[in-house]
Amino acid sequence: MAVVRLPGLVDPHVHLRDPGQTHKEDFSTGTQAAIAGGFTTIFDMPNNKEPIFTKKALVEKIKATKSNIVCDVGFYFGSLGDNLEEFGKVKKQTWGLKLYLNETTGNLLVDRALLFDIFLQWRRGPILVHAEDEAVPLILNVVEKTGKRTHFCHVAGKNDLKRIINAKEKGLPITCGVTPHHLFLTQEDEKTLGPFGKMKPRLRPKREVAFLWKYIKAIDMIESDHAPHTKQEKLGEGWRARGTPVEHPMIPFGVPGLETTLPLLLTAVSENRLTIDEVVRLCHTGPKRLLGLETEKNTYIKVDLKANYIIQNTNLFTKCGWTPFDGMRVKGKMNKVVIRGTKVFEEGKIITSIGKVI
Ligand code: NCD
Ligand code: ZN
Ligand code: ZN
Repeated sequence: MAVVRLPGLVDPHVHLRDPGQTHKEDFSTGTQAAIAGGFTTIFDMPNNKEPIFTKKALVEKIKATKSNIVCDVGFYFGSLGDNLEEFGKVKKQTWGLKLYLNETTGNLLVDRALLFDIFLQWRRGPILVHAEDEAVPLILNVVEKTGKRTHFCHVAGKNDLKRIINAKEKGLPITCGVTPHHLFLTQEDEKTLGPFGKMKPRLRPKREVAFLWKYIKAIDMIESDHAPHTKQEKLGEGWRARGTPVEHPMIPFGVPGLETTLPLLLTAVSENRLTIDEVVRLCHTGPKRLLGLETEKNTYIKVDLKANYIIQNTNLFTKCGWTPFDGMRVKGKMNKVVIRGTKVFEEGKIITSIGKVI
């Protein structure tokens, strides 16, 4: 045994699908997956079936948590550019604003002509963007002119990261995150994973993945981008004929990640590709700084750095019941989670529920 204590991890980017698509995930299963993965605080995105564009939708979402959350959960607001009058009403209940510049689950493309207005009107926490390729310089220009703190979600491409690093060096108030799937999978894996390797941004060739690892110090945080869809939806059961390409628009983008992020990172630690301090920076300090989150007292996790196991679809809390890492051997296992002095997870089991909406 080589058990170490780490601070409770923070995931700044998850999709718990509740309310509206609770057949994929709900607040109970999603937060259990978070705890099992070492995350004591997570931040949920606004691309629900009814997107979180109004105070009413946000209040409904908060209500849907009932007493079902086992970790702490914060929420983001969303916008296409036509709900600026709602911004002032949600300051107390949100941590940031999420904008989608590219096609992804929910099809919530922001009106690019309104970006300046949106940036200027938002006054609660950072603006988080899904921006790929030509959308990166577009956003950088808006950040430069408005001075608003902006976070680039799930950066995957070499050119995107290069542009972001350059802009950081110029002093722009920006941060960026990467997902574990963009660090531990490559475009090669698309062949074997099929629809289970379909996500936004798309997986990259080996050399681009190597670039992310080379510049890991320039990356501010890891975000799981936990994006559960059912196996049936991924397989297109009931409608997909043999030979239908994975690119078919009915096959949804996204993969789950809450339970696999930490073991994958700890495996990289065991291979000397990362240090434990880097894991804490990427999964705790970085996201906390982005969101201005206070440290919870007596909130920590314990991990066994020597324990080996095989990630399996059959051994997950997420309702979707699969992971693109099924069958992968990892070294480093979750052992215990304590929130505000209460033990909430031990030996693979959730013990009690003391999570709250933050
Ligand atoms: C996410 C989802 O399913 O909500 N999908 C994805 O492929 N990453 C949306 C997103 O984060 O872009
Ligand atoms: Zn996205
Ligand atoms: Zn996402």
